Amino acid sequence: MSVSTEHLRVAVLLSGRGSNLAALIEAAGQELAIALVGAFGDRADAPGLARAAAAGIPTASFSPKSYPDKASFEAALFAAVAASGAELVVLAGFMRVLTAHTVEQWRGRLINIHPSLLPKFQGLHTHARAIEAGEREHGASVHFVTPVLDGGPVLMQTRLPILPDDTPESLATRLLPLEHRLLVAAVRLFAERRVRLDGDQIAVDGQMIGEPLKL
Ligand code: GAR
Repeated sequence: MSVSTEHLRVAVLLSGRGSNLAALIEAAGQELAIALVGAFGDRADAPGLARAAAAGIPTASFSPKSYPDKASFEAALFAAVAASGAELVVLAGFMRVLTAHTVEQWRGRLINIHPSLLPKFQGLHTHARAIEAGEREHGASVHFVTPVLDGGPVLMQTRLPILPDDTPESLATRLLPLEHRLLVAAVRLFAERRVRLDGDQIAVDGQMIGEPLKL
């Protein structure tokens, strides 16, 4: 793939499998105008880092245990992210809460994919909690990261019905391909330079969006 200077430089942070990263890799190999400039993890054995390396993307892992505190861990991690020249940082299954300091430094350039219809079910075990709560619908959200965990402005969501016999596993399995499409669609808006965070408001094509865009 040839990378023009107009391609948006994107870094991905992950902790595990990396299927959302794989969706970005596939889209970048087709029509999505991004350059994946780095994949960064908090575990050297994260399968997602191996996927990235196989696709020729520079990878690095940073173990929190190697640093005296969270601030110095994040400083090292985000120094590497900055050195990659990333214009947009995507948290795709990065299972750590970032400090307010880091989040503020990257405000407007840091997004996360979360497996729920935010503001519902922030945090972990979202599929089980949606079923237990008797929800009829579930989904995933791409949102800007702010110091409030899973609480930043939501750019785009995808939805699916919860079926009577759904288990957390079946729901997660049916949601995952929708997550992949959602993330690619959201990143496309950035690649097309159409989205901007203005305070706590998201503007798309210069217009504030009152509610999340739908996939
Ligand atoms: C995805 O389902 C993502 O939404 C979720 O982790 C999974 C990562 O899968 N993220 C969170 O729960 C963040 N709170 P992947 O490694 O295959 O992309």
